[in-house]
Amino acid sequence: MNQAAQQELTETDAIIQLTGLQRRYAMGGGYIDALRSVDLEVLANDYLAIMGQSGSGKSTLMNIIGCLDRPTAGEYRLRDKRVSTMDDRQLAKIRNQEIGFVFQTFNLLPRMTALANVEVPLIYSGAKRKERVARAKEALTTVGLEDRMLHRPSEMSGGERQRVAIARALVLAGR
Ligand SMILES: Nc1ncnc2c1ncn2[C@@H]1O[C@H](COP(=O)(O)OP(=O)(O)OP(=O)(O)O)[C@@H](O)[C@H]1O
Ligand SMILES: [Mg+2]
Repeated sequence: MNQAAQQELTETDAIIQLTGLQRRYAMGGGYIDALRSVDLEVLANDYLAIMGQSGSGKSTLMNIIGCLDRPTAGEYRLRDKRVSTMDDRQLAKIRNQEIGFVFQTFNLLPRMTALANVEVPLIYSGAKRKERVARAKEALTTVGLEDRMLHRPSEMSGGERQRVAIARALVLAGR
């Protein structure tokens, strides 16, 4: 098989596979089942919206998919890696290497410039300074912020802050 065909095959593979996923919160001597038994498969290049009424478990599910939390039962495979049983250290590595977050409140570091904020994931992934700056600039240019790179979050509009968060989420993609 040539390389292009192999690439195509991987792109139709499941990226996220959830099987019988449960998240039970301990609560005042009892418990709350936020997720009872979730089965979900997400393929490469899928776009997905998770909808449901307040308290139905969306954030709980996103926390698990984003490797910020672990299920209490069931299995989660991310690119065929079994993340449901990983410890905090292993999850932190997966978050850095595999996942891009755009938080609702953006979670930008207030004292740092847009450029420095976008560099953060690259620092954790071990990239050298010169490469970090080049890739952070590229990501900021992609979101149309080439003339705002040295602004701090308080010196940007809401939409510009959101785009910094998007650039930060994308800066590790496509390596
Ligand atoms: N840390 C916790 N301890 C105990 N119960 C929790 C905890 N976090 C969430 N819950 C409960 O689990 C259920 C699911 O909560 P979750 O935050 O996932 O809902 P949601 O779908 O994101 O809701 P919303 O649309 O209001 O944000 C709710 O009943 C909530 O009260
Ligand atoms: Mg929520």
